[in-house]
Amino acid sequence: MPLHTEIVEVVEENSSVKTFRFKFGAKVKPGQFCMVWDGVGEEVPMSFSYIGKIKGITVKKVGKTTELLHQRRTGEILRIRGPFGTQYPIQPKRYLLIAGGTGIASLSPAAEEILVNGGSCRFIAGFRTASEIFFVERLRKAGIDVAIATDDGSAGFKGFVSELVKKFDVEHFDYALACGPLPMLKAICRTLVDEVETYISIESLMKCGIGLCDSCSVCGFQVCKDGPVFRAKDLIENGWLVE
Ligand code: FES
Repeated sequence: MPLHTEIVEVVEENSSVKTFRFKFGAKVKPGQFCMVWDGVGEEVPMSFSYIGKIKGITVKKVGKTTELLHQRRTGEILRIRGPFGTQYPIQPKRYLLIAGGTGIASLSPAAEEILVNGGSCRFIAGFRTASEIFFVERLRKAGIDVAIATDDGSAGFKGFVSELVKKFDVEHFDYALACGPLPMLKAICRTLVDEVETYISIESLMKCGIGLCDSCSVCGFQVCKDGPVFRAKDLIENGWLVE
């Protein structure tokens, strides 16, 4: 049953990304997602971008449903099902976190939880251009060292995060966690997977969110139930890199 929850805050992160904060009693682990319905458009999967007392989802305008979501205001109602799916491994270890675009929404709660649990993390965040940067101040305020890459060089390293990551000494890390567009994830995995234990969060078409409809299958896994966070080697052993 979806929980009807009131939006308590809307934050405009950049010209195409908004964060919606709402009360949601269930415990949420970093990397998990929910199914969101605004009462008009389609139900869509969204990673939790905040997992504390007041939860959050961060929505990029990419089509009709997300445009409708962007019209929601404080005080209006969202229908939320979840939390669903697997979580990032969180231990008192050394982490390298790599986000492309809105992937930073899924990885930010993981970074905060790693610190709470006695671990350390370095963060690499990639955006197309400087005006699209969001959540980086949030991470820096939490004491996390964030390196930025932009495709056009308007902030930080000029190029893709998959190129910037090659400049890091990966042997200094116990885990790498990554979330972002599919080509970026594949490039990251090719670089990292033999060097460091790597987990990635992947996207898929989702309908039920609970392992019933099989619309989300990738390499024989159901992304909604077996993922969205996967140990990269498990996917690669099932042909994901050559798909
Ligand atoms: S979304 Fe239905 S099985 Fe995954």
